Amino acid sequence: MNRQPRWIEEAFIEKADLFLKVLEWQWERAEEEAKLIANLLRKYGIKDEAKLLEVGCGNGRILINLAKLGYRTWGVDISPKLINDGIKKARERGVEGKVEFVICDVRELSKFFKRGFFDAVLAVWTSIIGYYLNDDVDVRVLKECRYVTKDGGHLFVLNTVNRDVLTLRHSLRCIFPSFEELDDVVLVEKPTFDPLTSTISNKWTFYKKAANKDLKYLGEFEFKLRVYSLHELINIAKRAGWKYVASYTDLTTLRDFVPSLSGFNLVFETLT
Ligand SMILES: C[S@@+](CC[C@H](N)C(=O)[O-])C[C@H]1O[C@@H](n2cnc3c(N)ncnc32)[C@H](O)[C@@H]1O
Repeated sequence: MNRQPRWIEEAFIEKADLFLKVLEWQWERAEEEAKLIANLLRKYGIKDEAKLLEVGCGNGRILINLAKLGYRTWGVDISPKLINDGIKKARERGVEGKVEFVICDVRELSKFFKRGFFDAVLAVWTSIIGYYLNDDVDVRVLKECRYVTKDGGHLFVLNTVNRDVLTLRHSLRCIFPSFEELDDVVLVEKPTFDPLTSTISNKWTFYKKAANKDLKYLGEFEFKLRVYSLHELINIAKRAGWKYVASYTDLTTLRDFVPSLSGFNLVFETLT
C-alpha cells in the first residue's frame, strides 16, 4: 500500500480509538443522513438494488443505514480498527449480507474492484479529497473512483468543507477554538485557516469527564487538508473523468448551492 502522510496514520490508524468517539457521536444522526442521501440517489435514478461504494467509510454509519434501506453497499477505508467496528455494527443491525467492508487505500481501488462495477461512488463528510495536500493525488483518487464506476454512473461528494465558506469566516475572524461534548468525552478543537495555501489545520484534543467534574486528558491529533472552491473541485473532477451535474446547499432542502454559505453536496456523472 502507498505510504500515508503522518497525520492520516495518526488520526485514523494509531489513534482510531479517539476518532471512533467522534464517529459514535456522528452515528446519532446517521440514519436520518442516509435517508436524505437515498432521496438524492433516487433523484438521479439510482434505485434500491444499485451497487454503491463509499470511499473513506469509517465505521460504516452511512453504508449500514443505506443497506437497511435496501442498497447493496461496499465501503473502503484504510483503518483496520474502523472497518472492524463497522463489520460488528453491520452484524448487530442484521445487514451483514448487504454491506461489504474492505481495508483498502482509495488510491488503489482498481486493484480491489473491477472496472465499472458500481452504479455510484460516495464520499461523505469531507473524506479523502484534499487529505494529501496535492491536487494530482486528488485527481488520482477521483480517477480510481471513475474506474470502478459504470459508464453513466455517478459520484456524490457530500457534506464536504468548502473553501469559500472558510475564506469568509477567516475574513470575519470567525475561525476560533470551540468544544463539543460527546457523551462522556469533551473534544476541544483549535482550527486555523491559511488563505495562501487554502489549507485548514485543526488540533483535536480529547478529555474524559471525571466524576469530580475534572477532565482527564485522553490524547490528541492534528490534521491539515487542502480545501477547494467549487470551480477548483469541478476542474479536478473533470481531469479525473467526471462531469459536473449539480450542487446543493444541504441534503434536507436540496436548495441551490450558495458559494460562501454552504458546504458541498455535489453530483458528478461519468464523462464519456
Ligand atoms: C472524516 S472520516 C469520514 C468517515 C465516513 N465517511 C463518515 O461519514 O462517517 C474520513 C475517513 O477516510 C478514511 N481515509 C483516509 N484516507 C484514506 C484513504 N487513502 N483510503 C481510504 N480511506 C481513507 C479515514 O480512515 C476515515 O475513516
